[in-house]
Amino acid sequence: MQIDVFTLVPHAFAWLCEQRPLATVLGSELDLRLLNYRETTPLTGGQVDDDPYGGGAGMVLRVDTVAAALDATYGGPPEHRVIALTPQGRQLDQALVEELATEERLTILSARFEGFDERIVEHLATDPVSIGPYVLSGGELPAMVMVDAIARRLPGALSEGSGDEETFSAELEGGFEYPHYTRPAEFRGWKVPDVLLSGDHARIAAWRREQSRARTAR
Ligand code: ADE
Repeated sequence: MQIDVFTLVPHAFAWLCEQRPLATVLGSELDLRLLNYRETTPLTGGQVDDDPYGGGAGMVLRVDTVAAALDATYGGPPEHRVIALTPQGRQLDQALVEELATEERLTILSARFEGFDERIVEHLATDPVSIGPYVLSGGELPAMVMVDAIARRLPGALSEGSGDEETFSAELEGGFEYPHYTRPAEFRGWKVPDVLLSGDHARIAAWRREQSRARTAR
């Protein structure tokens, strides 16, 4: 899969790229490109944003800046999905992550400042997406959230024997994980559930399924 992230802060992604599972799939299952709007802006001095018409605080990412970035990268409007990260978008959930992880190519547009000129969302993007009902100062964190969530669904992202497979299948069913515990078996009187210490794999598996089902129902 190829994901192109358009941003003004490409270096913000350096940490994420070093982490599993992203680091595992980079260069194999995932080709991640970080593209800076400033490198293709048609405006002088690397300008990408402007004051909003009608006044108001903050700057708005310009439509011509984003159109130029897409033209320079794809030679015109891309044929694949273009996500604009905005608090007004469809809320990201595991079902949308699953859907996006099946795409061959994906473009993610992030904005800084007060956000996008609305024409970017209306005409250049196909999917406005929010990562939650709160407002962040830019689209970089949402883009990283989205890339991380998608990357862990790509083949080979989750290591064998780490317990990730159970997580994986719970997620596939739209559910949540069961609770995890590790040593010590008791701490300040807080005990690990007896079933996990029983060594009875069938009982443990049944308990985990039930916990996962109960969490999902909640
Ligand atoms: N940009 C600012 N806040 C956001 C959010 N909650 N989701 C996506 N993009 C954003």
